Amino acid sequence: MIQHVAIIMDGNGRWATSRGLSRSDGHRAGAKQISVVADAARKMGIKYMTIYAFSTENWKRPQPEVATLMSLLREFTTDTLDQMMENNVRFCISGRVEDIPLIARNSVFNAIEKTRNNDGFTINVAFSYGGRAEIVYAVNKILKERKSDKPVTEEEFRNYLYHPEIPDPELMIRTGGELRISNFLLWQISYAELYVTPVFWPDFGADELRKALESFAGRDRRFGGLNLPSGDAVDK
Ligand code: FPP
Repeated sequence: MIQHVAIIMDGNGRWATSRGLSRSDGHRAGAKQISVVADAARKMGIKYMTIYAFSTENWKRPQPEVATLMSLLREFTTDTLDQMMENNVRFCISGRVEDIPLIARNSVFNAIEKTRNNDGFTINVAFSYGGRAEIVYAVNKILKERKSDKPVTEEEFRNYLYHPEIPDPELMIRTGGELRISNFLLWQISYAELYVTPVFWPDFGADELRKALESFAGRDRRFGGLNLPSGDAVDK
């Protein structure tokens, strides 16, 4: 079973405009879906879910849309806290936590603190997140904290990322149909299987997650090597 699934929750805007609603309505519907999908993932035996909620580039969106997303972050961390405690779910953030605006700060840090020791499932929200920014963050942390002058290994490097304790995702899902990585988890997705669905995020539920896992189960993961059935001819 997959331990960690990463999701690019795209298509909120298109979901909304196709219904004559505002983009903010789309984000609101998308925010509701997070608990639905997290619940389904937890019940399917997955341990970690990283969701792309707000990128370092999303600050460039119109101010009212940014404000809606900040409110949704606050509402999510307030409204789902009891449920997370009940279900032994840990909440954490990957990204520039110093960018979290005042309006959401207390509820976000409260959720991080209260759920710190929960170990049934982890919801890792990528917020003010960029994959390149995370790598640069790790490099600067190394420069500041590392005592040794020996060359840094890959294994050591990962210890300086936002959440070294979270294993790399085996599967990365993107809703909304675009074939892009969009600066998400650049270090961690080296060997992740990609699954892109045209379904918009507010319509992505347990059945859609099951389809993604079924697709994953049918993949032949070779990690750069060969999976030769025994008896196959091998070049000498
Ligand atoms: C992409 O849709 C989605 C986002 C930029 C934000 C994702 C955010 C949520 C699902 C809700 C917020 C929840 C929290 C916890 C902060 P888009 O607007 O780019 O859609 P489009 O490609 O159709 O325009």
